[in-house]
This record gives sequence, C-alpha cells and structure tokens, in this order.
Amino acid sequence: MVTFGSVTVEVDGSRYRVELAPGVVGLAASMAAVLPRGRAVLVTNDLVGPLHGDAVEAELSGGGWEVSRVTLPDGEANKTLDTWTWLADRILDTMPDRRTPVIALGGGVTGDIVGFAAASVLRGLPFVQVPTTLLAMVDASVGGKVGVNTPHGKNLVGAFWQPRLVFAPFDTLHTLPDDELRCGLGEVVKHAILSGEAALASLEADAPALRRRDAPALARAVRASVECKAAVVAADPREVGVRATLNLGHTLGHAVERVAGYGRVRHGEAVAIGLIGVLRYCEARGWAAPGLTRRVEAICTLLELPVITPQDLDPAALVHAITFDKKRDRATITLVVPTAPGRVDLRPLPLAEVPGLVDALFGSPHATAPAPKSDPPSEA
Ligand SMILES: NC(=O)c1ccc[n+]([C@@H]2O[C@H](COP(=O)([O-])OP(=O)(O)OC[C@H]3O[C@@H](n4cnc5c(N)ncnc54)[C@H](O)[C@@H]3O)[C@@H](O)[C@H]2O)c1
Ligand SMILES: [Zn+2]
Repeated sequence: MVTFGSVTVEVDGSRYRVELAPGVVGLAASMAAVLPRGRAVLVTNDLVGPLHGDAVEAELSGGGWEVSRVTLPDGEANKTLDTWTWLADRILDTMPDRRTPVIALGGGVTGDIVGFAAASVLRGLPFVQVPTTLLAMVDASVGGKVGVNTPHGKNLVGAFWQPRLVFAPFDTLHTLPDDELRCGLGEVVKHAILSGEAALASLEADAPALRRRDAPALARAVRASVECKAAVVAADPREVGVRATLNLGHTLGHAVERVAGYGRVRHGEAVAIGLIGVLRYCEARGWAAPGLTRRVEAICTLLELPVITPQDLDPAALVHAITFDKKRDRATITLVVPTAPGRVDLRPLPLAEVPGLVDALFGSPHATAPAPKSDPPSEA
C-alpha cells in the first residue's frame, strides 16, 4: 500500500500512530492492528458524509468491520452539549460493548464532539480519528483534547481522551474549500516556527507547492506539523506547562477573530495575523531573531494568508479582547515569545504593554519603539 508515512504519539500513558495515507484504503487494517475486529460506530456530519462516508464505510465493511453510521448536523454551532447528549444515545442505540470503536470522520468540530462522546459513553470507548480538514490533520486530531462549547465559551466542557489511531486520508482534502485549507496552513506555519530551522526552511521551499495542493508537499507539511504537536503534547499531556507554547500567535489571533466577528477572519487567518504581530513586536524589542518576522511574512504571503489585521478593527476593542478574560487582579498576560526557529519563551507581559502589542498587529511604527527596560525573558 502507498503511504505518506506515520508519526507515533506517546502521551499520557497511551501510544498511537498518526497514519498519513493517500486515501481511505488501509483504514480497516490499521484499525484491526490496534483493536479487535467487530462492530464499529462511524460518526460524520451531513456535509462530509455524502462526500466521503460511503468510501470509508466500504473500506471498513470490506475489511471485516460491521459499521453503524451516525450523522451529525454540520457546523461549529452544533458543537454543543445537546448534540453530545443526542450522539451518546445514538451510540448506545448500536448496543456497543467496551471494545466498540467510535470513529470520527470530519474536521475538528466532528473530532472534538465525537471524541467527547467516546470518552463518556460506557465510561470510555476506543476512539479513532479520520480527519478530513487540514486543520484537523495537523492540530485537532492529535493530543486528546475533546469537548464541546457552551454559552460560556468555546471548548469549556470536555475531557482528555486519546485516540487509538489517527488515520488521515489525503484524498479527502480534494473536496476541502480553499479557505478551509488556508485555516490549516496557519497552524502549519505556527508548528514550523515552533519546530526549528529545518522545518521552517522546508516550509519556505514547499509554500508554492502547498498552495497548489501538491500531495507530497502536503504530506511533508502535515508530517512535520504532527511531529511538532506530538512532541509538545508528549512533554505536557495535561496542559500545565510547555503545551502553552502551542498558543503561539493565538493571544493576538483570538482577539482579531473575536473583534472582527467570528467568520469574517477565519481562525487560521487570524493565527497568521497573530503570528506576524507577535513576531513584529518581539523583534522590535530584540526578543526575536532579526529577520524572523520578514521570513514568516514571506511564507504567509506565499500561502495567501493575511499578515496584517483588517485596518477597521478598533485597537481599544482588541486590547479589551486580550485582557478581558483575565482575572481582575492579574497584572500580566502570558505571551509566547518566538525567540528563534525552534525556541520560544513564555513571558509575562504587563497589561500596560498590551496596547503596544496591538499596535504591532497593524504594522504600526509604535511596535518598533525602543525596548522598554525589563528582565531578560525566562526560558519556558
Ligand atoms: N481538540 C483540539 O486539540 C483542537 C485543536 C484545534 C482546533 N480544534 C477545534 O476544531 C474545530 C475547527 O476544526 P475545522 O477547521 O476542521 O472545522 P470543521 O470541522 O467545522 O470543518 C470546517 C468545514 O469543512 C467541512 N469539511 C470537513 N472536511 C471536509 C472535506 N474533506 N471536504 C469538504 N468539506 C469538509 C466541515 O463539515 C465544515 O463545514 C474548532 O471547533 C476547534 O475548537 C480542536
Ligand atoms: Zn489554532
């Protein structure tokens, strides 16, 4: 069988493979290598199901699995406790036993909600991720964070539940709209900065091919990204320390997403804007290697990712968005500072400096003001 390789993830006492495959062929055998063949519940949504559900079901049935299919409504708006309750009942309808795997076929929304149902039905069923968006392949399907949104905010109810297998069929990306692909590329850039010089140089070389969706280039990018995420989550399975470095670019990115209004600037685009903003700010202060901002900007431009925030966003609203969910008595935010490819520091940034950070999002010269006197950043 042709394969684009695999990455082994060791986290929280469990060990699983992320297999990068040209298509769904091989999924049944890969599942059978880690789980006893028998019944399986395939969960997808009403957009991905009609595109790829039959191929997955045929692969599984042909490989000796007895599949029940459940279809969720598409969309982040359905990543709720109500959907989770409904899904738990549909899984129970299939009379599963503790060895019955639950398979998520779709993007990060599907993976998060199906993983949470797998984590809780019968106090935990084996979980298999079949990610069909680039974002889910490089980010959401690895690391075991599963959950749903509530009116209080995103991903506030959930669990850590590691999959037994992640199987990424690249041909599903053919039907993925361009803006969804770009969202995944934002996280790919982030992972390359976190990984180091070799990953960044390889992404620089591959960027034009990635925009053409060249399969080998995509496979190299996904593999490098998964290796990066796998290493970080292995070092910090429960997000008490170094996993925070995965928030690189996200402090600013989340603020841009929120202030622009969800949907206007997509998450991956906001991450790119946030990455460049934090790099610009840090480089101006001598915290990041000279030239790193320009380099990442060039990559993002090749990938058709934005590098500057929409100019009509209100800076005061962005400052508020960055500081708003912090406890009142907190005088700092934690900034993930990219000092060089492969090196980041977690640095407390006084709230008084947040307006300067926001200026950097607009490419403002204020961001290049001389560095304020402060202690050298501490190693994360
Ligand atoms: N668990 C984690 O560690 C983690 C990490 C990052 C993001 N997330 C979560 O992931 C979600 C975002 O993931 P996403 O960007 O994949 O969103 P998504 O799942 O909503 O997918 C985006 C859209 O593309 C559709 N789609 C999926 N695959 C397709 C295909 N092959 N062809 C055509 N259309 C397809 C989806 O149905 C959806 O409409 C958010 O809810 C976020 O909180 C989780
Ligand atoms: Zn992200």
